Amino acid sequence: MLIAVGYGKGSPGATTLGLGLAAVWPRPDVTLVECDPAGGDLWARFGHHPEPGLSALAASSWEGPIPGFFRQRLSVGADAVLAIPGDGAAASVLTLVDRGLDALRQASTTATVIVDVGRVDIRSPALPLVAAADHVLLLSASPLAQQAQVGARLPWLSNALSGELWLVGVGGHRTAEVSHDLGLPVIGTVPYSRWGAGVLSGQLRIPNWRRLKLARAVRRIAVALCAFEPEPDPRPARMVVWPAAGRGVVPPAPTLAGRWGGG
Ligand SMILES: Nc1ncnc2c1ncn2[C@@H]1O[C@H](COP(=O)(O)OP(=O)(O)OP(=O)(O)O)[C@@H](O)[C@H]1O
Ligand SMILES: [Mg+2]
Repeated sequence: MLIAVGYGKGSPGATTLGLGLAAVWPRPDVTLVECDPAGGDLWARFGHHPEPGLSALAASSWEGPIPGFFRQRLSVGADAVLAIPGDGAAASVLTLVDRGLDALRQASTTATVIVDVGRVDIRSPALPLVAAADHVLLLSASPLAQQAQVGARLPWLSNALSGELWLVGVGGHRTAEVSHDLGLPVIGTVPYSRWGAGVLSGQLRIPNWRRLKLARAVRRIAVALCAFEPEPDPRPARMVVWPAAGRGVVPPAPTLAGRWGGG
């Protein structure tokens, strides 16, 4: 599943939510990829080096799951592909979109990939990631101005998307009303929480932080998203082994052209 997390304007907590989702995701194999063209924040917040991260991932060729080499385990227990600060991140996002979008989509068929796309703007280099996502989470705090920023983007955004667009209310007030006004379904709300946000921004270490109200709210969003996709079957595909040749056993002729690698 590919999930994009972004916002219209302001800084309502997209990076915090994206990281929180990766940290409390109910299934294994989840990676947060910082794809905010304005630059990554998590390296500084968690005291990591941003490389190897998004720049290296975008420049490489890969198949299957996002290679562990590019992922860093943050102290909240989430794996993240970190981005450098500043405009250089936009170049990496462009490269990733240009060369790695198929690989990212492929990776999200067997694992969960959460992309933090930052501000959702019609000129954003991250827009193809938003367009390709199965679920797009748009955060909006309650002030009317932020709500209007989401509303103003809806006409072109809804046309660009292939997946589901969701509103995430921040602060909890008037979310149902905002959802009604914008005509956008709500996937959940995140409360204002100094403790929870402190943990998810690397400032606080609280052993049972997953019990904090912010973590519980983020977990509810994660569970709601998982409900859209059946859990992948962890068992390997069954292999049919024909008896060894040369003992009088003739394998049945292939019935589907191309099934056996032939014409
Ligand atoms: N639910 C919350 N409660 C309290 N503080 C929060 C919450 N979410 C985020 N914050 C704080 O708000 C600030 C901005 O959060 P964050 O970086 O997640 O925003 P953003 O939407 O990604 O903004 P930008 O990408 O523009 O920097 C951080 O200091 C973060 O700790
Ligand atoms: Mg951010």
